[in-house]
Amino acid sequence: MKVFVCRICGDPYMGEESPDACPFCGAEKKFLVSSSVWKDENNIELTDISRKNLETSLKLEVSASKFYKCVENTVANTEISKVFKNLRKVETEHASVFKKLLKIDTDPEVEEVCVDDIIASLEESNRREENAVKLYKQFAEEAVEPRVKEVFEAITKVEENHIIIDNEMMAKYKS
Ligand SMILES: [Fe+2]
Ligand SMILES: [Fe+2]
Repeated sequence: MKVFVCRICGDPYMGEESPDACPFCGAEKKFLVSSSVWKDENNIELTDISRKNLETSLKLEVSASKFYKCVENTVANTEISKVFKNLRKVETEHASVFKKLLKIDTDPEVEEVCVDDIIASLEESNRREENAVKLYKQFAEEAVEPRVKEVFEAITKVEENHIIIDNEMMAKYKS
């Protein structure tokens, strides 16, 4: 057995082979490294702009995670509930990545509501993911710290995958 650690979220995965993507934050395979070479890369000075962008991102992730939890607990369809459970866990992990860079351990206060409707839930998810992709691309460009740029680029790819999942589910449940 080998121990792999994700360079984006810092979580460990144990197995013979590196997984195709981080099972926790969804980062690409290339970010999974052997525990023998992994080191904490989050202890950096942040510029004002990156701090502001990370705070905005943290709010967005906590809000998304609350929304996903609401759908998970509200929607009657098991497949959709489980898809939203997975999305909720990934977004919670993204919030934790941003908190590590901000050196804080509390979530901002947000309340989210949702309805028991599959298409409405997928559309709302899609709207959130599109917004995250747009902002994170901008935040990656604005970051002068290589670590912050790398984190925003890695998480942008994960949110882009969430849009693909939303679209697949939409096609399935609209027909
Ligand atoms: Fe990860
Ligand atoms: Fe996210």
